[in-house]
Amino acid sequence: MTDTMQLMLEPTQDPAWILTYEDHGGPGQGAIESRLATSNGFLGVTGGWATTRAAGWMVPGRTYVAGLFATSGPGDDVPGLVLAADWLRVHVRLDGEPMVHRPGGITGHRMTLDMRRGVLLGQGHLATPSGLGATLRTLRLVSLDDRCLGLQLIRFEITGGPSEIAFEASLDGEDAVLVAERIEPGLAVWRISDAHRAGGSGEDRGSARNDDSGQDGGSGQGGGPGRSLAMAFACSLQIDGNELAPFAAGDLTSSWKWQARPGQLVTFQRIVSIVRGAAIGGPAGPAPAAVDPGVEARRRLDRARQQGWRGVVTAHEAAWTRRWHDSDIAVTGDPDAQHALRFAICHLNSAANPGDERVSIGARALTGNDYRGHVFWDTEIFLLPFYILTWPEAARALLMYRFHTLDGARGKAARMGWRGALYAWESADTGAETTPEQVIGPDNRVVDVLCGRQEQHISADVAYAVWQYWQATGDADFLCAAGAEIILETARFWASRAVLEADGRRHIRGVIGPDEYHETIDDNAYTNVMAAWNIRRALDVAALLHERWPACWAGLASRLRLDDAELRQWREAAAAIVTGFDPETGLYEQFAGYFGLEKVDLADYAGRTLPLDIVIGRERTARSQVVKQADVVALLALLPGEIPPAAEVANFRLYEPRCGHGSSLSPAMHGLVAARLGDVEMALRYFRQTAAIDLGDRDGATDGGVHIAAQGGIWMLTTLGFAGLALRDDGLSIDPRLPAGWRSLDVRVQWRGRQLGIRIDADRRRVEATLETGEPMTLVIGGKRHEIRRDVAVLAAFQGPPQGV
Ligand code: BGC
Repeated sequence: MTDTMQLMLEPTQDPAWILTYEDHGGPGQGAIESRLATSNGFLGVTGGWATTRAAGWMVPGRTYVAGLFATSGPGDDVPGLVLAADWLRVHVRLDGEPMVHRPGGITGHRMTLDMRRGVLLGQGHLATPSGLGATLRTLRLVSLDDRCLGLQLIRFEITGGPSEIAFEASLDGEDAVLVAERIEPGLAVWRISDAHRAGGSGEDRGSARNDDSGQDGGSGQGGGPGRSLAMAFACSLQIDGNELAPFAAGDLTSSWKWQARPGQLVTFQRIVSIVRGAAIGGPAGPAPAAVDPGVEARRRLDRARQQGWRGVVTAHEAAWTRRWHDSDIAVTGDPDAQHALRFAICHLNSAANPGDERVSIGARALTGNDYRGHVFWDTEIFLLPFYILTWPEAARALLMYRFHTLDGARGKAARMGWRGALYAWESADTGAETTPEQVIGPDNRVVDVLCGRQEQHISADVAYAVWQYWQATGDADFLCAAGAEIILETARFWASRAVLEADGRRHIRGVIGPDEYHETIDDNAYTNVMAAWNIRRALDVAALLHERWPACWAGLASRLRLDDAELRQWREAAAAIVTGFDPETGLYEQFAGYFGLEKVDLADYAGRTLPLDIVIGRERTARSQVVKQADVVALLALLPGEIPPAAEVANFRLYEPRCGHGSSLSPAMHGLVAARLGDVEMALRYFRQTAAIDLGDRDGATDGGVHIAAQGGIWMLTTLGFAGLALRDDGLSIDPRLPAGWRSLDVRVQWRGRQLGIRIDADRRRVEATLETGEPMTLVIGGKRHEIRRDVAVLAAFQGPPQGV
């Protein structure tokens, strides 16, 4: 033991930065493990307890690897995230007896996620039935500096004794999905077994062009970034500072034995390096496809061993410090909100990997395997705002994933009889549609899932995120190389999808909007308005490229066979798409026929613990006006100003009480719109409801992982809602509406290569904005333009929120 290690095993003291659980083991354990997950966008490890009450002392945690997907076996063509080998496993025996956690031991049993440092710390007391024991401290991390690396530290002090201790550390990975290809001392290379590869069959399924199979050399079906996995590891054990050689070492197991005595200090360190075949997650970017993952794993491990475990921890913590510098939000006056924001930002920073363009973020990130790790619109609509404004490199990689899967989207559109690109509703490694066609509902009935065919707004959502990224970053290389093609191909899809009918209007029939309680509907306002918006932005992109980057435009237009006649047809299409907006009433009809459905008063079901479609049944819900989640409200959130302010208020008033919030995505969207429209009290209620989705979960919904879109939603609600931040052509604007009790709010954002710090002081009704890097820019504060320059803070007064709602 050294002082450095002791320091590293101590959590940050400030409660706003930590999440701690004391003695546990009963119900709710799954949710706790999800919350305590540590991740770096390439590796994700759930927060298993440092000690168990079962026989043997284990340090469990499930490890997921971004992009490593397999099916559950023959007959299943829906890929899901694969569980990698357990690299944290340890067994300890004292005088032949397993050491297990004994409640009531000398030291309380506690796990702490130190969000500031991105480490999971544990402490506990182990004992045998005869009373011999040890107090222990643990640390684990997956490095934010080199995303291939995991580190485990265990320090324990013997109490009682003397006795013989047997300590075994092993790597346990063999199962039916991952079969060993090569096992050598300190290295294992597995491959996805042939029986568990996605077949890419099914009407709407098909593999995309991304087939860089690396060392795979297999059957070549359903190619994606990761079909093999390598782990290299090294461990060592010291007693009172002296290295002890293992008495036995197998390829994947090391064992030590020694005579323990009271007061003895034992430290164990294990570094693991994990490499996925074909592409390697890490800040250096994907490695060439020809790199052998085993060789690469050893190379990365050697580098880490040269750094030493202290060096690994230091580099990791420095990377976290940089992320917090760029993305922290500080609130004074509301400790619960502060804590919820830190939790959200910690998981958001954990979820992305700017070095890997072949993966995106699943609905539970890498904290669990609900939805089998699939990627939804959640990423583009609920997560990208955070990345675009605080971590543009990560945003770009996520959008490049959509670029690399564009062929899959073209294939899906073509198979369904349309042109352009229709993205998979659920996407995994290749971009092929991976939405299951049936699931077992909560009432144990088999339910057909139509989203894979009908939830088509995903294509406009991807285009929306591309445009936001372009607006916020001005990244012309990205626009020319990838973004423009996404926007043009999705626009082409909508122009073919919206069919001109006898009434002279274009209709989009047979879809599902964000509100999945209503299927096979016509003219969903969200879908149609976003489709028309997508086409208009494509026309903007075409004009922009034509004017500013003519060579890029010429190449793209020729490759996509896009001519002026087609662009003219798009212009006509965008104007003719039915929006469902009635200028008389100022209301959108959510879809054709919605207003004729049964009105169910949700107040009659207040206090329910189950989603409304379970309480009143799927069929009745479908015949009613109950909305699963923000749908028209999502439109108000994404396209503010599309309709007059009074109409925004009228739509919000109509749809907000009809929403059952049957999705974790819903409350934050409502909160964002409520804040913008001036109902800050309601917005704060939605903030707390969103925070409780994971932090307050009691019914097990978080067992399958943190709802990462809800975490993104908390950031959106705070930054875009309470701070009122918005993108402009010439800069940014803010329009603060802080909830009662929030005395100040500090946010940090980036815009076109500049970094800004914005402090909103509610007590003094004053905004202080500082440009930390980059050229002067415009910041509009409460409607008034300011020019901000480096190191000269701008101070401006602001009014309170309008009282619209
Ligand atoms: C929601 C979708 C969401 C998915 C994954 C569903 O329950 O309705 O909008 O994309 O969960 O989070």
